[in-house]
Order: sequence, then structure tokens, then C-alpha cells
Amino acid sequence: MSPTMGNNLSSVVSALIMICMSWALLAEGVDFPNPVMLTRPKSYIISMSRDAMPAVFASSHGWFSSVLHSAKVQAMGGLSAYAQTEDEASQGPLHLYSNVLHGFSATLTEEQVRVMETMPGVNGLIPDSKKELHTTHTPDFLGLNASKGLWPMSKFGEDVIIAVLDTGIWPESSSFLDHNVGTVPRRWKGACEINAGFNNTFCNRKLIGARSFSKGYEAMTGPINETLEPRSPRDTDGHGTHTASTAAGHYVYKASLLGYAEGTARGMAPRARIAAYKVCWAQGCFDSDILAAFDQAVADGVDVISLSVGGGVVPYYLDSIAIGAFGAMKKGIFVACSAGNSGPGPVTVANVAPWITTVGASTLDRDFPANVVLDNGVAIKGVSLYSGKGLGTTAYPLIYAQDAGFKGNASDTYSSSLCLPGSLDPVLVKGKIVLCDRGNNPRVAKGGVVQAAGGVGMILANTATDGEGLIADSHVLPATAVGAKEGDLIKAHIKGSKAPTARVNFQGTQFNTRATPVVASFSSRGPNSETPEILKPDLLGPGVNILAAWTGDMGPTGLPLDNRRVSFNIISGTSMSCPHVSGLGALVKDAHPTWSPAAIKSALMTTASIFDSTDDVMLDEATGNISSPFDFGAGHVRPDRALDPGLVYDIGAQDYVNFLCGLNYTDKIVQLISHDMSTCPTSPPKPQDLNYPTFSVMFDQSVSKILSTTFTRTVTNVGPAKSVYTSTVVAPRGVTISVKPATLSFNAVNEKKTFTVHVATSPAGLVPGESETVFGFLTWSDKIRSVQSPIAITRAEAY
Ligand SMILES: *[C@@H]1O[C@H](CO)[C@@H](O)[C@H](O)[C@H]1NC(C)=O
Ligand SMILES: *[C@@H]1O[C@H](CO)[C@@H](O)[C@H](O)[C@H]1NC(C)=O
Ligand SMILES: *[C@@H]1O[C@H](CO)[C@@H](O)[C@H](O)[C@H]1NC(C)=O
Ligand SMILES: *[C@@H]1O[C@H](CO)[C@@H](O)[C@H](O)[C@H]1NC(C)=O
Ligand SMILES: *[C@@H]1O[C@H](CO)[C@@H](O)[C@H](O)[C@H]1NC(C)=O
Ligand SMILES: *[C@@H]1O[C@H](CO)[C@@H](O)[C@H](O)[C@H]1NC(C)=O
Repeated sequence: MSPTMGNNLSSVVSALIMICMSWALLAEGVDFPNPVMLTRPKSYIISMSRDAMPAVFASSHGWFSSVLHSAKVQAMGGLSAYAQTEDEASQGPLHLYSNVLHGFSATLTEEQVRVMETMPGVNGLIPDSKKELHTTHTPDFLGLNASKGLWPMSKFGEDVIIAVLDTGIWPESSSFLDHNVGTVPRRWKGACEINAGFNNTFCNRKLIGARSFSKGYEAMTGPINETLEPRSPRDTDGHGTHTASTAAGHYVYKASLLGYAEGTARGMAPRARIAAYKVCWAQGCFDSDILAAFDQAVADGVDVISLSVGGGVVPYYLDSIAIGAFGAMKKGIFVACSAGNSGPGPVTVANVAPWITTVGASTLDRDFPANVVLDNGVAIKGVSLYSGKGLGTTAYPLIYAQDAGFKGNASDTYSSSLCLPGSLDPVLVKGKIVLCDRGNNPRVAKGGVVQAAGGVGMILANTATDGEGLIADSHVLPATAVGAKEGDLIKAHIKGSKAPTARVNFQGTQFNTRATPVVASFSSRGPNSETPEILKPDLLGPGVNILAAWTGDMGPTGLPLDNRRVSFNIISGTSMSCPHVSGLGALVKDAHPTWSPAAIKSALMTTASIFDSTDDVMLDEATGNISSPFDFGAGHVRPDRALDPGLVYDIGAQDYVNFLCGLNYTDKIVQLISHDMSTCPTSPPKPQDLNYPTFSVMFDQSVSKILSTTFTRTVTNVGPAKSVYTSTVVAPRGVTISVKPATLSFNAVNEKKTFTVHVATSPAGLVPGESETVFGFLTWSDKIRSVQSPIAITRAEAY
């Protein structure tokens, strides 16, 4: 979920943990006759071997149901008769999978899992787990132009179908109107679901399909409360409507959030088709439903899949998003996922499979300043999307929430410092501006707490955890957000004065207030914890304060107390940067219909920029220091250049299979992911030799000699037939990098050339105490195009 809404979900997670705990407590000390009764059935994805189906079955569905039934009956055999009923054993599969995985999902007890694992034909079981949800001006910021470059060359994406797997869609939004887009591409086989007040009258040539997937969710959390959330593709949250319109929303003139960021709203691929697949519900998104949506989207004939959802990093064979994306990639579908909002700490990036395009977030050149002016005249930079009546030029008394708790329970100053519900004493708060610390409860909820206690305004201060990264919110009372250092400054001022006062100066929407882009504080960072040889994230797209369409069922803050309804909302997160790249991938695909997903990704990555508007390397919002490829990957997208990258690093399905073999996965595990009968070569390539557009190596520095490695890569000429590319290398101090051959001459389009990159250092080269990773760059140039790749060189002991 976006950081804007994030804390709702974490409270749900803790609620779920509470539920599990009370289960455990209940179980303790109670002498149940049968231990199996204590384990709540959970949902599992069961991968089945394709060639193991006995001939007696006419369809795999029949086979799956039979396997499931026998596993349940066998599991019952060892138990007392009253433990389970025949009725339970007859419950069939939840989802059937055929396009990205061969198998089904079902609810199983622990005992049934043990039996299922031994059933003939069962390849493996993946426990269902919960994932979380991790515009307007952005086309101009990215340099998209209606009269030249990628937009006209791709017909604004008209031939491309983008699947958005998210919280569903608000079909009434003007971003999804049928504005004379041509006929729907013939390959489309999808549908608009008829269910719970939804039917095909909600779809048109723009929003061409909408489906919902909830069987895994309901198996794990209980039935959906249809009063709050119909069992249909309708978006009651807002997130899915926002991401879909960012990828491919149609032009909407004079769009704004309550006056902020006013302008023409449109997605990256304004004429592309949208197919919405609702996989996330009020309490999260489950693997088995996500995999079902991938399976359906592949069958429906989509070209791009956008998924702003993620969880912890697990091996690829347990990762439903990686498995679904592999099946999609095999069908030529470009898959982009959000990197996660767990920054700025290292090793936080999610969705790291190399066949996924992993997108981090950066800032725009647009800001919403709302500065605090203290009684001593000191002005402090803040940001806000508050849109009601401001505080004018009047100064109000200022109090730190920590000092505004109830006297009787003063020990709980921690709660009051965070402005948790019920923690502020109205006697102390009335008529004042209250400074609250960020963290724990949603940022916008703190405003509600201050308002309820009679406060007139709020200053929301980051703590050290969030550093200096600011997120503007549409607060329910006059409020502004300030960085950690500024927050400390204000606190010191409050402490040192008898009657501190402040005013807040709301300045609306402003452009070019600072160098941009900057890596957003919250954007998840590398290195990649699953396969460090693959550098992640891949690239950055805009993800801070993004204006896009919104649901009519939820206010802009997402709080139950927020009764405002808006057509557009401004929110932040890698959830917002991902659909930018999905939409751009759609444009590149429309301009180059024969390109593979890896070629599209390579084009977007090798043309990305590592520089900001002042021609310095992009800064990291969290520290104010220079950022690195572990923060931005290959850099910030430059769409028009991606149209004509010159060379691409192409990768086919077999290369990814060999990569998995190089991770020492068994044939059986590789087949679970590849969804075919692939077997591993006797000596598979090293993971670092996957033909990726970036380079990463880990050296074991305990070995006291020259540390060196050689990468092999193959580039395909997608530019002019006769071209000559020359390599340039930027090597970090203490490291030598050499490229062989140093020049590549091409005579034909689609001609391939192989080269090696040799990296060497001595143990003294990577100085302990300095950064654990140093970075270099390789650039191929034909004087017109430049094809750039970062090279990460890491001391292995750092992990
Ligand atoms: C788009 O390109 C045209 C032609 O080069 C140029 O005149 C125009 O200023 C560009 N528009 C924007 C918004 O950059
Ligand atoms: C579709 O749903 C709308 C709104 O609920 C309803 O008015 C209409 O009759 C339905 N149409 C069909 C064909 O079911
Ligand atoms: C569903 O939500 C409504 C509205 O919040 C609530 O009144 C009702 O009790 C809920 N139903 C169930 C079964 O939880
Ligand atoms: C603190 O005490 C007040 C007054 O007795 C009470 O209303 C409030 O709920 C208490 N707050 C907390 C967080 O315990
Ligand atoms: C930022 O860079 C300065 C100067 O190199 C360094 O002293 C400081 O520790 C860095 N800050 C962080 C948070 O990395
Ligand atoms: C795979 O196994 C080989 C041989 O045991 C080993 O050298 C190599 O490091 C392993 N690779 C990975 C990625 O674990």
C-alpha cells in the first residue's frame, strides 16, 4: 500500500496477529481429543506435474478434484471419525490454474498438507500468504510530447492492453470514458464480470474488462462483508483506480485534488486499453488470488501486467508473483511491479525476480509548500495538500503533543507524542497548533485526533526513521509535514520559550522548487536479498504526490471519518511509480510489437538517467546525499530515448530457466516455475551471466589475492543496420574494469554481438570502513545513442 494509506494495513496485520494469538491461547490448556482440530485450515497453491495425469481423467479439473478428495479422505483415515465430516472432504479446489502454473488452490489442514505432499503427481505446495498494496503533470515531466517521439510513434498505446492487478476499478471515472478509441484488439478474450451490481454496461472500448478474485482471500479471512465491499471488480479503496489511470487513463481536463495540482490528467499510455483484475480486498491480497488473476490475464490476451503489490522476499518457487510473472513473460507479456515502500534502509527491495521490471520511486518537479513560521521569525519548509480554510496570517500558540497528554497518565507521553487516539488532553490542546511525531498511526489520522481535541492546526514532524523525506497529505485540518531536523528545531524552540507561537503559510502548487528527480525516502533499496548477482531495483519512475483518478466510495485520506468525495487524489508510493513504467512499457511495445519483455525493459533501463535537473547525480531524499544504483537501479526513466535505445540486452524464457538452474534449483523446482518440462543443462551458467542490462558481483574478501570476475553479455542491434558502438567505462577507485572487444561493429538489424566485462580488485582495493559496495558504469555509444549499465562491486562479507 502507498505510504499515504500504509498504516491502516499494518493495524490490520497486527489485528490478524492478535487473532492468531487468541487462537493459540484458546488452544493452550484445553484438552482437545484431536490435535488436528487446533490447526485452522489454510489455503495452499498445489503445483501438479503435467505428464502425471492418469489416462482415466478427461480433464485436469477432474484429476485435481480427485487428488484433493483422496488427500482429504486419506488424512481423515488416521483420525477419529468425528474430527471431520465427509462433507468437508468433498470441498473442491478454490482456483484452477492452467496458463502460468499447472495446478489448483485449496484449503487444507496440516495433516492434509502432509498427505498431499506424498500424492502422485504433486510437484509442490505453496502456502498462501498475504501481500500488501505497496497524474496529470507526469507526462510533461517525463518529456512526453503529443507531436513527436514515443507518444505519436506508439499511437498513444492504442493497440496495447494493460492488465492492472489491484483493488479493482471505479468505472464511472472520466479517466475511463470511451473517447473514440478504435475497436478493441481482436486478441482480447476477456470479459466484464457480471456480479454484485457489476456487469458489462460498465465496460467500454477503454475499460475493456474487469474481474475479481476472492476465493483465497475468503478462505483465509472469512467471507467478504458485502455491505462494505461488493464481491465484484468495483474499487471501494481507490488504489486500483489510481494506478489504472496512471498507466492508461484518458485525458481529463481541469483535474485536481480540491484545487491542488490542477491540470490535464492523463496516463502514460492515454489510448491503451485497461483490464482491471481485483485481487486486493479490505484486509489485503492473497497469493492464490493473485496467481489466479495472472492465469486469467494471460488467457484474456493482455500485453502488459501492472502490479503494485508485494510482500517479503522468498525463493522464486514460493513466490506467486514471480511464478505468475514467469508464465506471463513466456507469452510475451511485459510485467512491472513496485519495488516496495520499505526504504531508505538497504536490502529492502521486493519483487526481485529478473523477469519482472522492478520500479522504485522518485519525486516530481512539483511541490505543495506549506511553511511554518515561528514567533522568532524562523521559517521552516513543510508540505501539505490541506485544502480547507487556512490559518491566515494569525499566529497560534504552539505545543508539542508529548506535553499535551493527560496529567493523570503522564507516563504515556509516547502515545501523546504520536497523537494516538484519546491521548491528547483537550484542555491543553484547545486553540493551539500541535506538533505530532510521525509513525505508528496514519499521518492523516493524527490530524483527526488533534481536531477532536480542539486543536486548530498540526505540524507533523518526521523522526529519524523517516529522515527528511516529506509526503504531502490532504489533511482534515490545517496541517503541514516537516523533516526530522526541522522537527527537532521546532521542539527545541518550544522547550526554550515561555509562550511559543507559529503560523502556517499554505502556498498551493509550485514547480521547480528544488533539483529533481530525487530518490524518494520510502523507495525500497538494493541489494537484492534473493539473488545479489541481479541488481535491483531496475529503475525509477515518479511516485511522490501523484494525481490520478479516485474511487467515489472513499475520501482522499482513506479514513472512515473523511466524508469528502473527490474524482482525483494525490498519493505517494512505489505503487504509483510502477504503473508509470507499465504505461511506458505499453508505449514501447506498441511502437515495437515484436520486442520481447526483456528487450522493452532493457530499452527503458539503458536509456534511463542517473542525473537530476542540475546535472548532478540524483540525491537521496532520506539523507540529502548522492544516491547509488542500489537506490535508483539503472536510473530515472527517459521515455523518448527508450523508443530508440540502439542496443538491447535480450533474454528469452530458456535463458531464465538456465539462470534458475545456475541457482542450483532441481529440475522439479525449475519446472514448477517454468510451467513446462524444462530440464537443466549439465553445467548451467553462473547467475551473474544472465544477459541482464546491469552488472553485480559479490567478492569474498577473506580470500587474500586479486579478486576478479568476468561477465559475459550479448547485445542485439535494434538501431540502424550499420552501426559502430564504442565502450566507455567509469571504474570506482581501486577497481579495474575492462571490456573486450572495446568496439562492436554491426551490419544488420537484429545482429547480435557478445562481449565480456572483466572486473578486478585487490583486497586492499575495497577499503574496509568505506562503503561495502562501490559502483562503476559501462556505456556503449554510437555517438547518437548511449546504452548505459551500472556495475555493482560488493564485498560479500557485508551480508
Ligand atoms: C512538443 O514538440 C513540439 C515540436 O518540437 C514543440 O514545439 C513543443 O514545444 C513541444 N511541447 C512540449 C510540451 O514540450
Ligand atoms: C447492469 O447494471 C446496471 C447498474 O446496476 C443496471 O442498471 C443494468 O440493468 C444492468 N444491466 C444488465 C444487462 O444486467
Ligand atoms: C458489515 O459491515 C457493516 C457496516 O460497517 C456492519 O454494520 C456489519 O455488522 C458488518 N457485517 C458483518 C457480518 O461483519
Ligand atoms: C488518560 O486519562 C484520561 C482521563 O482520565 C482518559 O480519558 C484517557 O482515556 C486516558 N488516556 C489513555 C491513553 O489512557
Ligand atoms: C552524507 O554524506 C556525508 C559526507 O560524505 C557523510 O558524512 C554523512 O554520513 C552522509 N550521511 C548519511 C546519512 O549517509
Ligand atoms: C551451486 O552449486 C555449485 C557446486 O556445488 C557451487 O559451486 C555454486 O556456488 C552453487 N551456486 C549457488 C548460486 O548456490
